[in-house]
Amino acid sequence: MSSNQAAVVADEAARPGRCRITVESDRAASFDVGRNELLLLSAIAQGVEYPHNCRVGTCGRCKTRLISGRISPMVDFALSPLSNQELKDGYILACQAKVRGDLVIDVKLGGTSVLPVRTVSSRVVRWERLPGEVIDLRLKLDEPLRFNAGQYCTIAESGSFVRRSYSFYDAPPAADSEGAQEVGFLVKRLPGGQFSEWLFERDRVGTKVWLEGPFGMMGVADHDRDGLCVAGGTGLAPILSIVADRLQRSTGARFTIVFGLRTSRDVFANEALQQLLARYPERLRLVTILSHEPAGSSWQGPRGLITAALDAQLGVDYRDVTAFVCGSLPMVEAVEKTLQRLGLPPERIHADKFLPTGY
Ligand code: FES
Repeated sequence: MSSNQAAVVADEAARPGRCRITVESDRAASFDVGRNELLLLSAIAQGVEYPHNCRVGTCGRCKTRLISGRISPMVDFALSPLSNQELKDGYILACQAKVRGDLVIDVKLGGTSVLPVRTVSSRVVRWERLPGEVIDLRLKLDEPLRFNAGQYCTIAESGSFVRRSYSFYDAPPAADSEGAQEVGFLVKRLPGGQFSEWLFERDRVGTKVWLEGPFGMMGVADHDRDGLCVAGGTGLAPILSIVADRLQRSTGARFTIVFGLRTSRDVFANEALQQLLARYPERLRLVTILSHEPAGSSWQGPRGLITAALDAQLGVDYRDVTAFVCGSLPMVEAVEKTLQRLGLPPERIHADKFLPTGY
């Protein structure tokens, strides 16, 4: 055994069950995680500013070059957002990597304002059916919680292991406050989805539920740039949070929200949108587009898939905006392709993709 190997063995023996994660480009930022834990979850639980968004292997934001050490992938990385070249270069997805021993990795940490993940109990204080099979769910938290615009958390009914991810629709609490006392979510009914079926069964005001979060980084970049926000259905929740936050914080940035729904009977959250429009008439525009509105109805707005609203007529300088896109996986992928074709650089497209099932 070389003296180096002996040192590693001695080091691991001194930390039973723990693995040292050394960040090659920033050794001072190295951290420990438990053996067999998921690299990303363990890192963000400790407040490590690790890039991430979806935590389920779809967005690619947590891509990390594995220089040495052993992990077990939870998914086939060949079918993940990693390109063939990235796979050849040793990239992994940190959210889908179980740590098996000490690792040396390369990933750019920091600059992401990652807040520590917490588990907080709460009670339902608003349970309101909205059009389009959506519930406005508002929770009073037993302890204040901090989150950033565009972030999400998981929610579970008390005593259940079934958790679903939902984005906060409120602007984040002020940085100098203890955190939000109440938070709100838009929950779409998902046929067969255990959490949403439970929630839709009856008025749940007064019921105890658990939150874990915050997660995600969709809203962190380019605070002073104009924004194009594209929301499909309840993908509107993080968009409301991001737009309200940025309109408050920046002095000149302008925002266009493109909101896609099926029919005029599904239009929800109109009040929240109208309030924002009334408050910032010069800096906010809303385009609602309907994909399945019956021909001959009184709807005067645009019709078609959400991508049909993204064209030269929208009046957006696609080369100069930051885009925030949230909705179902196929919708987000179609919008990403359209925006790139219109000249928007991929690094300025920030997306949150809903997966069809819970976990
Ligand atoms: S792929 Fe890992 S956080 Fe999205």
